[in-house]
Amino acid sequence: MEYSIPKGVFDILPQEPHKEDAWRNSAHWEYIEKIIRELARDYGCREIRTPIFERTELFVRSVGETSDIVTKEMYTFTDKADRSLTLRPEGTAPVIRAFVEKQLHLQRPIQKFFYIAPMFRYERPQAGRYRQHHQFGMEAIGVCSAEQDVEVIDLLTEFYRRVGLKNLKVAINTLGDLDSRTKYREALHKYFEEHLDRLSPDSQARFSRNIMRILDSKSPEDQEFIASAPSILDFLSTAAKSHFEKVCTLLSSLGLAWEISPRLVRGLDYYNHTVFEVSSGQLGAQNALGGGGRYDGLIASLGGPDIPSVGFGTGLERVMQTMERQGVQFPSPQGPFIYFIPLGSQASEACMKWTAALRHARVAAEVDLSGKKLQTCLQTANLLQAAFCLVIGEDEQLSGKAQLKEMATHQSKEIVLDDLVERIIQYHQEKKGKYHE
Ligand code: HAM
Repeated sequence: MEYSIPKGVFDILPQEPHKEDAWRNSAHWEYIEKIIRELARDYGCREIRTPIFERTELFVRSVGETSDIVTKEMYTFTDKADRSLTLRPEGTAPVIRAFVEKQLHLQRPIQKFFYIAPMFRYERPQAGRYRQHHQFGMEAIGVCSAEQDVEVIDLLTEFYRRVGLKNLKVAINTLGDLDSRTKYREALHKYFEEHLDRLSPDSQARFSRNIMRILDSKSPEDQEFIASAPSILDFLSTAAKSHFEKVCTLLSSLGLAWEISPRLVRGLDYYNHTVFEVSSGQLGAQNALGGGGRYDGLIASLGGPDIPSVGFGTGLERVMQTMERQGVQFPSPQGPFIYFIPLGSQASEACMKWTAALRHARVAAEVDLSGKKLQTCLQTANLLQAAFCLVIGEDEQLSGKAQLKEMATHQSKEIVLDDLVERIIQYHQEKKGKYHE
C-alpha cells in the first residue's frame, strides 16, 4: 500500500486488530494511564510535559557522546533555520532542561515530576523494540539520600503491582562516586586490555572511548569477558559504599525482592551511585521493563545549581505485553449507557433530542444513525457494549411508551417517553457502580 505506516511504529486503535496485539487497544492505554495518574498523586509527583523535540546538543551532553542512543539511535534533523534538533529519545534530559531553564528550584528545592510521553529511537525494530515507544517516567529532584532512591524504586515496583504484574526481577547496582569510578575504570582497563582482540568491534571502540560501556554490550562474543570482569563493588569509596548499603537495607525493610547485579551500568552516561533495572522473563530478548538511577551531576552540567536527582523510565508497550503474557485481564471498555435505535426520520429527531439531553447530564448515550435494519442496529448495540437499548418506531411514538431493554439480562421494562430523560438519568444514578463510574 502506498501510504503504509513507517517501519517500527504502530497505531493505537479503539479495537484490538488481533488478539495477540491487545496492547495496542486505546482503551487499555487509557486504563494504564489512569493507574499512573493515581499512583503519581499517591507519591506526590506532579505532571511535566516537555516538547517532542529539543536541541540535539542537550542529548549529546546529557545522555553521552559515546552512548548507543547518541551514536546510533537519534532522530536528528536540521530545521529551516539550520538548527540541529532531535526527537526526544528519553525523558530525563528534557525534564532537567526545563527545570534549569525555568529555575524551578527557586519555587521549591525538592520536587517530584512524572511524565507519560512518546520517545523516539532509531533501533532495529523487533518484538518489544520500536522506533516510537511510550514511557512513564518520574524524576525526583533535590534529595541526595538513599531514602529517595528507595522511594523511586518503590514507586516503580508499586506501578507494576497495581497493573497486576508478578515475578519480576529487580536488579540493582551502584556506579559509585567519581573516586570509585576512576579506580574501577583503571581496573577494567587492565582487565579488558588482555582480551581486547577477542572483544566485538563495538567494544574495542568502547575500550578507549568509554570503557564502562563494554559492560552494557549485548554482543555474544563479549559476554564471557563481561561475566568475569572486575566488580565495581570492590572499588567503592567509603561514602559510596555506605550510600549503597543503606539503599539495600531500606529496600529489604520495605519487603521488596531484589538482587545485586554488579555489572549493571545502564545505557546512559548521566548515572552515578544507585542504578536499577526491572525485567521480566516473559519478554524475550527485550526483557527490560523499566530502569533508572541517580544522576547527581546532571543539573549542574546543564548550567543549573548543584542539585541531586534520581528517577526511572518504564516502557508502556513492554508493560502491557507482559500483562498480556501473564494473563492479566484489562477491564472491558465502557460502552454507552443507552443506545437508541430510531426507526424512521421522525423517531431519529426525537432520539437526537433525548441523546443530547442525556449527554448534557453526563450520561453516555448513543443514537444509531445508520438507517440499517433493526437486527443490524441491535448487533451494533451489543458490539459497543451498551448497557441499555431503546427501539423507537411508529408504534412507540403513537402510544408514548417504549421498552427499555437491559442488554446483559435481556429484561425489558416499559418507559413513558414524556419522562424518558429523567428516568434514564435516575437509572444511571442507581446503576452507577454496575455500569459506569
Ligand atoms: P531506558 O532504560 O533507556 O532509560 O528506557 C526506559 C525503558 O523504556 C526501558 O526499560 C524499556 O522498557 C523502554 N524502552 C526503551 N527503548 C525502547 C524501545 N526502542 N522500544 C520499546 N521500549 C523501549 C531511560 O530512558 C531513562 N531516561 C530512564 C530514567 C529516568 N533514568 C532516570 N530517570
